Amino acid sequence: MTTNNNSVQVSVLGLGAMGSALADALLKAGHATTVWNRTPGKADALVARGAQVAATAGDAVRSGRLVIACLLDHASVHEVLDPLADELAGRTLINVTTTSPAESRELAAWAARAGIAYLDGGIMAVPHMIGRPGSSVLYSGSADVFHQYEPLLELWGASTYFGEDAGLASLYDLALLAGMYVMFAGFLHGAAMVAPVGVTASEFATRAAPWLTAMTGAFQGFAEVVDGGDYTVERQQSLLFSDLGHILAASADQGISTEVVAMVQRLIRRQIDAGHGEEGFARIIESIKQPG
Ligand SMILES: NC(=O)c1ccc[n+]([C@@H]2O[C@H](COP(=O)([O-])OP(=O)(O)OC[C@H]3O[C@@H](n4cnc5c(N)ncnc54)[C@H](OP(=O)(O)O)[C@@H]3O)[C@@H](O)[C@H]2O)c1
Repeated sequence: MTTNNNSVQVSVLGLGAMGSALADALLKAGHATTVWNRTPGKADALVARGAQVAATAGDAVRSGRLVIACLLDHASVHEVLDPLADELAGRTLINVTTTSPAESRELAAWAARAGIAYLDGGIMAVPHMIGRPGSSVLYSGSADVFHQYEPLLELWGASTYFGEDAGLASLYDLALLAGMYVMFAGFLHGAAMVAPVGVTASEFATRAAPWLTAMTGAFQGFAEVVDGGDYTVERQQSLLFSDLGHILAASADQGISTEVVAMVQRLIRRQIDAGHGEEGFARIIESIKQPG
């Protein structure tokens, strides 16, 4: 642990892969860090680097003005924190456990009733990225907490604050993950398409990664059309041109599921059937906004 003149007395609840990475970054920066985990034995490496280990979550809360919760889910956060509401009163809680926007707002309301300053966080990184370039953490809830602890939060990754509505960080987090999972499914669909002709997924990945990276350049153009609300603007690929029938047929010929591509085709088809075939591909957002 290095010396830090601005050391914060901080407690980390939850030493899974992510909680351990967060605590490690705090220790490296010289913050006086107490750690607690439900199952004993996970703190050893952190203790070797200068952490204090607390026997109970209550002991951990009492030893810090700032409490970080990095547990499994919303239910586990309540399970650990509900009995400690009185001890947490007057302290600051930053919860970076993944929760839904509604759960984040519920926890913020619970904290407000208990007199706890509350900031909600959504981590856009995997544990080994914490404290490295590419890691970012999204926050919403108390602006005072965010600004007071911003230098500490920056230790984990680039920090962005979205506003007092505690659900916003989670909403952004899950919206970004939605894009990621659908992209991953698209990549894996492509890998399944070429597999029957003996192409390995690894070989396909070397082609898919630069292709998909280049295609993200289209996001801004789609976004401008969506924000402008006029899908008839020129130089866009039309919905009729975007028909995915040939990809569906080729997938079926390869003997694989067509579900991933059929999902996109359905979104396109609903707009064509509604008479918008000559309009741009970005118009499928209207299918998404208005469930069929
Ligand atoms: N790992 C990632 O890549 C990543 C990325 C972004 C966000 N996150 C989020 O970060 C949070 C932690 O993830 P992780 O990767 O550290 O998960 P993990 O390795 O599975 O660790 C889960 C942690 O939660 C604790 N826990 C589970 N249920 C509990 C309960 N009822 N009471 C007390 N403690 C309980 C576990 O304690 P025990 O050791 O006693 O089981 C452990 O410390 C999750 O919300 C996850 O979505 C993770």
